[in-house]
Amino acid sequence: MYKSVIAIVTLILIILSVVLAMLLNKSEDYCKKRDRLLAEEDSAFLGANLTLTSTELKVDKILLELKTTELSLGYKNSSEFLPALPFHRAKERIDESKVFGFIRKLPKGGSLHTHLLAAASVDFLVKNISYRDGLYGGEVNGVFKLKFMHDPLKDNRTKWTSVKDLRLQQGSQRFDQWLLEQLTLTQDFPSIETAWTKFKRIFTTTYDLYSYKPVFQEYIQRVLQELYDDNVMYTELKGTIMILYDLDGTTYSKQDFFRIFQAAVEEFKSSHPKFVGVRYIHSIYRGVDFDTLQQGLDEIIAMKKLFPDFVAGFDFVGFEEEGKTLLDYAPQLLQAQKYLRFFFHAGESSWFGHTDLNLADALLLNSFRIGHGFAITKHPKLLDFGKEHDIPLEICPISNQVLKLNEDPRNHPAATLMALNYPIVIGNDDPSIWNATGLSYDWYVVFMAMTPKNKGLEVLKQLAINSIRYSAMDKEEKNDAMKRWQQQWNNFLIDILLQDDKRGL
Ligand SMILES: *[C@@H]1O[C@H](CO)[C@@H](O)[C@H](O)[C@H]1NC(C)=O
Ligand SMILES: *[C@@H]1O[C@H](CO)[C@@H](O)[C@H](O)[C@H]1NC(C)=O
Ligand SMILES: *[C@@H]1O[C@H](CO)[C@@H](O)[C@H](O)[C@H]1NC(C)=O
Ligand SMILES: *[C@@H]1O[C@H](CO)[C@@H](O)[C@H](O)[C@H]1NC(C)=O
Ligand SMILES: *[C@@H]1O[C@H](CO)[C@@H](O)[C@H](O)[C@H]1NC(C)=O
Ligand SMILES: *[C@@H]1O[C@H](CO)[C@@H](O)[C@H](O)[C@H]1NC(C)=O
Ligand SMILES: [Zn+2]
Repeated sequence: MYKSVIAIVTLILIILSVVLAMLLNKSEDYCKKRDRLLAEEDSAFLGANLTLTSTELKVDKILLELKTTELSLGYKNSSEFLPALPFHRAKERIDESKVFGFIRKLPKGGSLHTHLLAAASVDFLVKNISYRDGLYGGEVNGVFKLKFMHDPLKDNRTKWTSVKDLRLQQGSQRFDQWLLEQLTLTQDFPSIETAWTKFKRIFTTTYDLYSYKPVFQEYIQRVLQELYDDNVMYTELKGTIMILYDLDGTTYSKQDFFRIFQAAVEEFKSSHPKFVGVRYIHSIYRGVDFDTLQQGLDEIIAMKKLFPDFVAGFDFVGFEEEGKTLLDYAPQLLQAQKYLRFFFHAGESSWFGHTDLNLADALLLNSFRIGHGFAITKHPKLLDFGKEHDIPLEICPISNQVLKLNEDPRNHPAATLMALNYPIVIGNDDPSIWNATGLSYDWYVVFMAMTPKNKGLEVLKQLAINSIRYSAMDKEEKNDAMKRWQQQWNNFLIDILLQDDKRGL
């Protein structure tokens, strides 16, 4: 009896331990499977192929500490997660962010998607340019316009008032505040259409002001200075050919526009030898009729012959839901393709099976890069095609938020693109319109909102390398830019480590 009890208890114990062992084994096994699955994803993420040096690993550790601290605030209370707040409400707090400070210092390579006339900070226009003599304001076709003039009676489109007088009448502070409101999208818009309506007006307000030759020359330098201060060494600017003027009524030719533009760039380069250069991407409104498009194409093809290194290619601009599709223009674009590279904005849309189909044309017309491509994750075949042909997307997250495509960047398709190692570069699109400057705000949003918690320096390094690799520079220039970037990168690493040492003392 006693023995059989012992036997039964022993048996139960044996069975229990086997079951326990199996259970343990099972969960061990489960964990292994889980690790393997996640490791596969981890090694496919943008930047995963880079092997960081021991110095880079030290800097990476510092960066990840900063990232984790900021993320933790967001995990506790998502209203504290700055990238997901409307940019105009988050900006001053982003300025204080340590991760942002790190990114501002980091040599970011090139900025490849920026519209020339929204590229410098809005403060420069309001606090500096608009205080100059000879500036007049008036409403033309219901839009407030600014223009430098000697004799305002000569432009009879409206009754102009000197900005000096407007300031005297309203008080400088009130006028400046009003002007800032005219020039920025820092309020909430009820719809994407109303946001775009205001957005377009802003360019009408400032166009004549920037066409005044001395201001244009200074403006170019200012655009480059702000990028330079943000540790960006190269840029491609999307613009139109402006007829520059002087106060005495002299106007300059289209060729002069390129000469004056290039001369301003060269002047900047000579005083800032670390800056490698600028290219121009010609842009035409996507609503023009076929004749206007043809004239525009012929004109830029001719200009490209005269300024082959400066003119990188061609793009369409404007609200993609309006105007024509790339398919409408395809016959002409197929002709022009022999002479021009394309840099089409495409798929900057939330629709499916509609405007987003521009992506198919942008890819098939062999775009060198694609602007936004926001809709691409809905199109697996197009995604594969783009990856196979190595056609990068230019991701501009703050623009997408302000222009109401994507409120919370954690849900931005670029997170998926990076997870798939689809080639991307980061752009700032129209920084002046949202009171930003430089490229770092967009880098910050991408890094904090669209990369996993454990991803650090390798992602940022890859994004910088991408910005040179996918630029329109030729092979030799790219090699040179890479060398110079590497030098800046090494200095940056040393700076961060030195600074960290000091903090530790
Ligand atoms: C543990 O799992 C492995 C396979 O994952 C299996 O071969 C082995 O027999 C298991 N051991 C036990 C004690 O269940
Ligand atoms: C790593 O390199 C391989 C081979 O060039 C490539 O197929 C893969 O996509 C790369 N992955 C990442 C994450 O860069
Ligand atoms: C979350 O953060 C917001 C913004 O800072 C704050 O107003 C709110 O009180 C916080 N909520 C909690 C539960 O702490
Ligand atoms: C622009 O940003 C600066 C600095 O963050 C801030 O002080 C200013 O109020 C902002 N202006 C507008 C119009 O949002
Ligand atoms: C305006 O900007 C120029 C540089 O472009 C600078 O030299 C000048 O001091 C600025 N003026 C004011 C009033 O800020
Ligand atoms: C403006 O002046 C031009 C000639 O200089 C004239 O043809 C035109 O009718 C005028 N327009 C208005 C609105 O006065
Ligand atoms: Zn754009």
